[in-house]
Amino acid sequence: MLNFDCRNVSKDIIGETHGLDSNTAFNDYQEKIKHIIADLNTRKDKPGQWLQWMNLGYNEETVWYVKEYAAMVKGRFENVLVLGIGGSALGGIAVCEALLKPYWNLLTPEKRNGYPRIFFLDNIDPDQINAMLYMLDLKKTLVNVITKSGSTAETMSQFMIVKDRLEKELGDDYRKNVVATTDKQTGILRQLADQEGYKTFVVPDDVGGRFSVFSPVGLLPFALVGIDIDELIQGFKDMDLELKNTSIFNNIAAQNALIHYLMDTQKGKNLSVMMPYSSRLKYVSDWYVQLWAESLGKEVNNNGETVHVGPTPIKALGATDQHSQIQLYNEGPNDKVITFIRVGEFDTTLEIPKIFEYTGIGYLGGKTINNLISAEADSTKVALTDYQRPNISITLPKVNGYYVAQLLYMLEVQTAIAGELYNINTFNQPGVEQAKNYTYALMGRAGYEESANVLKEKMTTNV
Ligand code: PA5
Repeated sequence: MLNFDCRNVSKDIIGETHGLDSNTAFNDYQEKIKHIIADLNTRKDKPGQWLQWMNLGYNEETVWYVKEYAAMVKGRFENVLVLGIGGSALGGIAVCEALLKPYWNLLTPEKRNGYPRIFFLDNIDPDQINAMLYMLDLKKTLVNVITKSGSTAETMSQFMIVKDRLEKELGDDYRKNVVATTDKQTGILRQLADQEGYKTFVVPDDVGGRFSVFSPVGLLPFALVGIDIDELIQGFKDMDLELKNTSIFNNIAAQNALIHYLMDTQKGKNLSVMMPYSSRLKYVSDWYVQLWAESLGKEVNNNGETVHVGPTPIKALGATDQHSQIQLYNEGPNDKVITFIRVGEFDTTLEIPKIFEYTGIGYLGGKTINNLISAEADSTKVALTDYQRPNISITLPKVNGYYVAQLLYMLEVQTAIAGELYNINTFNQPGVEQAKNYTYALMGRAGYEESANVLKEKMTTNV
């Protein structure tokens, strides 16, 4: 199991002004948390609640189909190119970066055990897209286009470019190089896939993008590059079992949600920093930033009142950002909760040779890089605590599929519980939809003519 240590948010350690009386808080909120967890677990099976992500680890049929397809195409492609944005990309990037060997795409096919390289295009920078298309041999590339709505302009414009080129190179056979992950019935990509005969996988109903990493949105790319998806699923299930516990004293997602909520609402600490001490976990922070920001940043609460709530998530990387952000975290405004993600045991050990013995750096010789990163994480934690900065440590015994899945699922549940504490709708994103609609209007999509006129007017007056 993950190890969760929240002692450094307590007033006994960081003082009355900045710390919580954690035990009293846990007791005060015990009934509320019990109700929230029980309620989430009841609602999760009801349509329209957007809680199907809590069931994703139990969808054996999906896992079977994903594995079957991955086995069928193994050896046929040199590259997988994922087209998607936001929740359709960030989970995939986070898990691939964590679980594939570092520098995967630069390894030889033998060192990749015959599995393909993987690229995610999650932006619409023309220089980047052109460079990607220049670099990849599309004939040897499997394109996984992922969009739940089936109409996101960024993803679909990329797909139109790639499809056009693929078809020019491969003729009708281009279809074999496309696999689409989208809604089972609705959306333009679904229509196109049916029309063109693409292989498809389904983003299940009531699973929002940022909660979709354990659906085919994540599982398919993972299986294509040889990540053991059974191990991920086991991590999900074991964590799910833990988090069904309705007692806050035994539920780390509830504890972390409550700590963040109280730090924000009672102590004015509305910035949530995630700082893994592992380069492989760097992109888990990107995923968390989206999860926390889109889920909790809301204008109105469930009673229809204007509240403008939401802690701001921030990503950092240890030890790199000790030389960038830590000065601010130690001495700047005391407005953050810092979560360290630690690794118990790295896959490898790297010794620092005993050279330069009689110089100021001689002390490093004979130690390991593992010792050094661990000492740096400990020191940063202690220094922050000295400065009375609340901090939490989550430790993965190892960076593997089992523990990474536990971490991601725990953070999803934590987000859902925090949403209930804030009394907001965790699963909508009206602020994103508004900008999406403006883009449709500006790009001339049918049905958005009126918005386009209003927008053009606003843009002239605003500029
Ligand atoms: O979490 C979300 O719902 C969003 O970030 C979406 O994933 C993102 O906007 C992409 O949407 P879609 O998958 O419909 O293309």
